Amino acid sequence: AGRAKSKDMLMDLSNAMKALYMDEYRVSDDVHARREAVRSGIEEIVTASAAFPEGTRVAVFGSSANGFGSPSSDLDLCLQIPQSATDFTKEHGVSAMTQLAEKFTEAGMVDVDTVRLTARIPIVKLNFPYDKDGKSILVECDLSLQNPLACLNTALLNTYSKISPDTCILASIIKRWAKMRDINNPAMHTLSSYGYVLMLLFYLTSSEPNDGFVVDPGNVRGKNPPLLVNLQRVDPSWAQNPVGPYREILAKPHNQYCIHQHPTEPIYMVNTYFYRSGLEILEQYHVNRSKGGPCLGVVLASFFRYFAYEFDYKKLVVSLDTKHGEFKEKETKAEEDGWSLYKPGLAIEDPFEHFYDVAHVVKTSNFHHIQQEFALAYSKIASATSGDRGFVTGRDLI
Ligand code: GTP
Ligand code: MG
Repeated sequence: AGRAKSKDMLMDLSNAMKALYMDEYRVSDDVHARREAVRSGIEEIVTASAAFPEGTRVAVFGSSANGFGSPSSDLDLCLQIPQSATDFTKEHGVSAMTQLAEKFTEAGMVDVDTVRLTARIPIVKLNFPYDKDGKSILVECDLSLQNPLACLNTALLNTYSKISPDTCILASIIKRWAKMRDINNPAMHTLSSYGYVLMLLFYLTSSEPNDGFVVDPGNVRGKNPPLLVNLQRVDPSWAQNPVGPYREILAKPHNQYCIHQHPTEPIYMVNTYFYRSGLEILEQYHVNRSKGGPCLGVVLASFFRYFAYEFDYKKLVVSLDTKHGEFKEKETKAEEDGWSLYKPGLAIEDPFEHFYDVAHVVKTSNFHHIQQEFALAYSKIASATSGDRGFVTGRDLI
């Protein structure tokens, strides 16, 4: 009877997660329209400024475009300088952005901030006053110079959000949890939202949570098809001839992207292949997988437990470049990518820039704190589902 009750409680939790998502995370057409108005408003000012090469565009990336945002997410924008403008260096970019910041202030933008113009990727921050129906709201924007890989990883995340609604719900709840627990602030040496989403994608693409998670230690890993297909591992010919769940490629097709951000920066190549056509088949796969798999509450609890107790942080890297059921070791990365200075705690390999540790900003003491937060979140679910207290809303988790 206790087991049946805990199953009911987990269904309650799943329903509460879905309700919270529908109430607070769905981005309405109005919000989409507002963001597009802000983007094009900024692009107009850029186009009018003689400081940028002709054809410079403003593109949206980050959570406003990756499917894992909410109506209140800030707007991450980047200036896309045309490839033909080969003599436009980073220095030109910084000086053009300094002039642009003045234009923004003249145009009525609020709190235009150029402090981060000296960063690896130069950024101007501003608040864009958007007026509608007599009301004015300030839209928080970060405008960066040339950020091609961020646009590409946004497209990768967006494709995951399109093929798997469950992943959107889980990512929203986890991001919300991390913000409420104050462990989602890279400026304070905790993990970025992007980092949490990569941890979730790693977990979903490589594991099968066990329904009896409360009593049974250890997930059944590698035995069943994963909850989420790894888009960087889907065989491109699979959609024409789908047999079985999906076909994994062992050697990735090369779709090399040459990063020559600015002539003054070193050139390097990254493999940016991911499966992005014939998505209907993958959508259907995930509908079926979701029906036959564990409920959202179980997946969330297992995610927390996995990163609280099971993942071997010392030895392993959170990496999407792994075959189902296999993991990448820090030691191997040290040989392959020269990662000799990795920390003993959390390391997250960027899906395209394998040499880049998305968790590099996280201080060791904060890593221990984050791990404790995973344990606390898990124990809240475990005690609520094994005791007699049900989940009334998704907020109970926080
Ligand atoms: P919220 O603003 O919290 O809703 O989330 P977000 O998805 O916008 O996350 P975040 O502000 O962490 O990052 C914005 C975007 O910048 C991400 O979607 C990535 O495209 C990119 N990004 C952030 N951090 C990194 C990083 O460490 N490496 C790379 N390559 N890209 C990053
Ligand atoms: Mg953002």
